[in-house]
Amino acid sequence: MTTTIHGYTYDQDLAPSPVTSEDLDLLKATLLWTEDDTAALRKAGEILEGQVEQILDVWYGYVGSHPHLVKSFNGEDGQPSGAYLDAVRARFGQWIRDLCGREWDSKWLAYQHEIARRHVNTLGQTDKVGSAETHIPLRYMIAFIFPITATIRDFLAANGDSATELDTMHAAWFKAVTLSVVLWCQPYNPDQW
Ligand code: HEM
Repeated sequence: MTTTIHGYTYDQDLAPSPVTSEDLDLLKATLLWTEDDTAALRKAGEILEGQVEQILDVWYGYVGSHPHLVKSFNGEDGQPSGAYLDAVRARFGQWIRDLCGREWDSKWLAYQHEIARRHVNTLGQTDKVGSAETHIPLRYMIAFIFPITATIRDFLAANGDSATELDTMHAAWFKAVTLSVVLWCQPYNPDQW
């Protein structure tokens, strides 16, 4: 998988995540994650691969049409930064591929923690934006799960699978996105997470 995306540090030596593999196992159990979900998510990744740019168009359209969301991409002039939006877009696309296709091992956990920090502690630093905002509000992180889940269904349907298979892939995606956001919420309140 590509590592030439600006700011994409998956394959670099990152500090280990404070989230352990035992924590991850308990989270997966809490989400009723099964081996069937793993298979369904892999298949979802194959279907989504050729549609990543269209998916990002939908998600960026959604963020861009809500001033309270797009302001997270403001530069130091207080206006949305096109360069910042573009840089994050490339990593966002890679996240779709990684979520569906990578092993959820310690390397994956470490990069999830890096993504978490980019939302909570180091907003704008990867792209040297001089962000006007300090962090993404926790409430929007959680609320975002719904649009990221609801809007993926039509893209998953592109393969012409049965309604049952589509439901299975959609449920696996929903669980995987929820898991991601749970991991990304850790730095907001590490003691109570
Ligand atoms: C389901 C919830 C969310 C998902 C799946 C998501 C996904 C992502 C991904 C994949 C990245 C790039 C990570 C990387 O650097 O490799 C990212 C960065 C970013 N996201 Fe989110 N995000 C979510 C919630 C939000 C919300 C609610 C906002 C606010 C509008 C937001 C604003 C940003 C910003 C500004 C960055 C760039 C951070 C930086 O400076 O590196 N995200 N997001």
